[in-house]
Amino acid sequence: MNRCRSPYVGITVLTVSVFLLLLIFPAVLSPFRPIPTQISDADEIDDLALLIRASDAGSSHLSTSSRKNKIAFLFLTNSDLHFALLWQKFFRNRRSLFNIYVHADPTVNITRSDGVFDGRFIPSKVTARASPTLISAARRLLARALLDDPANAYFALLSQYCIPLHSFDYVYGSLFTNPKFDLSDASQSTSHGVRLSYRSYIEILDKSKNLWKRYKARGRYAMLPEVTFDQFRVGSQFFVLTRQHALTVVKDRRLWRKFRLPCYGEHCYPEEHYFPTLLSMEDPNGCTHYTLTRVNWTGSISGHPHTYGPAEVSPELIQELRLSNNSGSYLFARKFSPESLNLLMKIADKVIFRD
Ligand SMILES: *[C@@H]1O[C@H](CO)[C@@H](O)[C@H](O)[C@H]1NC(C)=O
Ligand SMILES: *[C@@H]1O[C@H](CO)[C@@H](O)[C@H](O)[C@H]1NC(C)=O
Ligand SMILES: *[C@@H]1O[C@H](CO)[C@@H](O)[C@H](O)[C@H]1NC(C)=O
Repeated sequence: MNRCRSPYVGITVLTVSVFLLLLIFPAVLSPFRPIPTQISDADEIDDLALLIRASDAGSSHLSTSSRKNKIAFLFLTNSDLHFALLWQKFFRNRRSLFNIYVHADPTVNITRSDGVFDGRFIPSKVTARASPTLISAARRLLARALLDDPANAYFALLSQYCIPLHSFDYVYGSLFTNPKFDLSDASQSTSHGVRLSYRSYIEILDKSKNLWKRYKARGRYAMLPEVTFDQFRVGSQFFVLTRQHALTVVKDRRLWRKFRLPCYGEHCYPEEHYFPTLLSMEDPNGCTHYTLTRVNWTGSISGHPHTYGPAEVSPELIQELRLSNNSGSYLFARKFSPESLNLLMKIADKVIFRD
């Protein structure tokens, strides 16, 4: 008797359990993914293993290295790489001087067969705006690039809305050889026209609207004792770091424990605070305190900068965007709408890459 009934009991128990499970975890039913404002423990464990491996990657002294220095271009994206064709032109014939790494949100269907970007996608996780997931993604990119090639000497973080403002050779020369590029460094030591000291190009500001609100976004005392308000900084999330500073970032556990905490309310943007705060605490003199990525905040709407469309693209705009008070020129700019690509391609050889 019992044996005959048991399959029914089994099915009933199964049905009830599934029903209860769905009740308890309604997300299973939902077609929408919840926005991750926090990193899951599983992702955190994966990341930690990667960061620990990368911490052993070793620092290299740029100037004394006999091998050819490379620039690691780190693309952080949650859509297609809109300007892949323009970047393709930028990178052409410079194979031995750069590496590319792309962190693409795995929940978005991204075209992956774009020339120089082909095969350059790193294992990635879901990202969301104004959340610590963007810090994690940037740290993954830095860690992969550190591990991948010891010749990676500078690490430039960019997004799918960034464009180059100069040729590859101009960018390379500005970072590695041009002794006059960094206008803020009066004590630049050079030997035979080659720079001896290298700094990270990262914006670090100690004054800004809402800085206090952003500091206490996780709770009035949440950042203590690791980060006092006096130590809290803000800056652009797009930077160019030296290898030494890329290592500082992947080695950090202390500040990350605080910056990964979820925020309450609207004033958050952890990715604009973590890197400037960490580097200003660890090595303020090793940083320029300004960015090489031009962005236009005039008339910004809900934290988004001005997006340049096709009607605005012109040789004059490129010249204007290059002008910097801190360096010989800005090297990159954002944001550009995907529709701007054709016009940018038209002026690429004659204007953008002509130097
Ligand atoms: C992703 O995009 C490609 C090309 O547009 C398309 O063929 C494919 O079906 C898409 N896949 C998904 C899962 O949406
Ligand atoms: C910045 O954006 C505003 C519109 O929000 C525009 O009027 C202005 O010309 C832009 N500035 C530059 C330097 O492109
Ligand atoms: C450079 O400094 C001048 C004077 O302070 C300012 O008006 C201008 O906007 C600055 N240019 C840039 C690109 O920041």
